[in-house]
Amino acid sequence: MVSVRDLANVIDALHSGVVVIDAGGTVREMNGEACRILGSSAEAGRRRPVEEVLGPLLAKRVRSTLADGRGLVENEIRIQRRHAPAALVAEVAIAPFRDPDGRADGVVLEIRDRSIHQELIAAESQRHRIRSFGRIAAGIAHEVKNPLGGIRGAGELVAKRSDDPRMKKAAELVIRESDRISALLDDFMVLGEEQGVRARAVNLHRILDDVLDLNDLDPLSDGVEIRRLYDPSIPELLADRDRLAQVFHNLVRNALQCMAERDDAAAEKALEIRTRVDLDHPLSIGDGPRVPSVSVEVQDSGPGIPESVRDKITVPFFTTRTTGTGLGLAIAQHWVTAHRGRLVLESEPGHGTLARVTLPLHTARSTP
Ligand SMILES: Nc1ncnc2c1ncn2[C@@H]1O[C@H](COP(=O)(O)OP(=O)(O)OP(=O)(O)O)[C@@H](O)[C@H]1O
Ligand SMILES: [Mg+2]
Repeated sequence: MVSVRDLANVIDALHSGVVVIDAGGTVREMNGEACRILGSSAEAGRRRPVEEVLGPLLAKRVRSTLADGRGLVENEIRIQRRHAPAALVAEVAIAPFRDPDGRADGVVLEIRDRSIHQELIAAESQRHRIRSFGRIAAGIAHEVKNPLGGIRGAGELVAKRSDDPRMKKAAELVIRESDRISALLDDFMVLGEEQGVRARAVNLHRILDDVLDLNDLDPLSDGVEIRRLYDPSIPELLADRDRLAQVFHNLVRNALQCMAERDDAAAEKALEIRTRVDLDHPLSIGDGPRVPSVSVEVQDSGPGIPESVRDKITVPFFTTRTTGTGLGLAIAQHWVTAHRGRLVLESEPGHGTLARVTLPLHTARSTP
């Protein structure tokens, strides 16, 4: 039989937040998850009125259940947490309970954090959009590549055979521009590839080091302090080295480019790469298998992403840079998704940008 003390431990261990409120609307108990969701400690929350602990939206619902004794369930309620910039989306259930004599004695509030679920749904719809775009783009790219090869060949012939310097220059222009278009078409075709991940055991930190070393040679890195905060406990992952290198390369280049464009030349330019094993943040949708994950964060001290463009940045061809193609993040998103991972960009204007890649922790050992 579970004792009352054990029961408190059990409630504390639940993945749902639980808050017990007495008939007068005063918070009596909160478990660990409720404290996390509401951004309060149990000590600070206890014996305080619901309005102070739960915020006006939730408190109003609790008061209504206290008044009429009718429970309620809501699938999506936004909770603005103290000290946290972004609101959290939660599912809540409020149920009245009675004392042994049948008198209304208070309510129990159950809160479930739906943010990860919402994030996964948003990522899934974005994936769908990019996949449809990718198919069309790859089809067009394929059709254009063939004649382009012919045009380049003709340019080469003229460049080789002609003695007229102006003709030679024009032919070289044809070759150069054909190569540029061809590279762009290769990028398009990537977005159309459904399966292209060749998974092998890879060392994540070595991939990151290679990407950083490559970018270190670029003048864009001048004056940028690069910090590597690696979690040494990360084992070798089963992943595609080249595809992941492309993902991190695109993220690092964006960070360097945005920092270089920052108006404030005196501001510190820092790029921090952090890695971490996340056992508590499994990557799965619904009832899918829960595998622990590994995250790589690329944090820059650039200008940040304005709110107005935030939901467009992974859309193919969206760019705010004059020389950008707008394919960097779309391609990064494509390959992260192909690895069954997630790419999230967080930013507060003026405080830099954080790009987080979360990958399932598949290792040669964990996968038969
Ligand atoms: N670290 C960042 N800080 C601020 N804005 C960013 C950052 N990363 C991306 N962005 C914004 O997202 C847009 C799209 O990025 P994306 O990498 O897809 O394309 P691009 O960098 O403009 O061009 P390309 O990568 O194809 O050369 C950028 O133009 C920029 O406005
Ligand atoms: Mg880019």
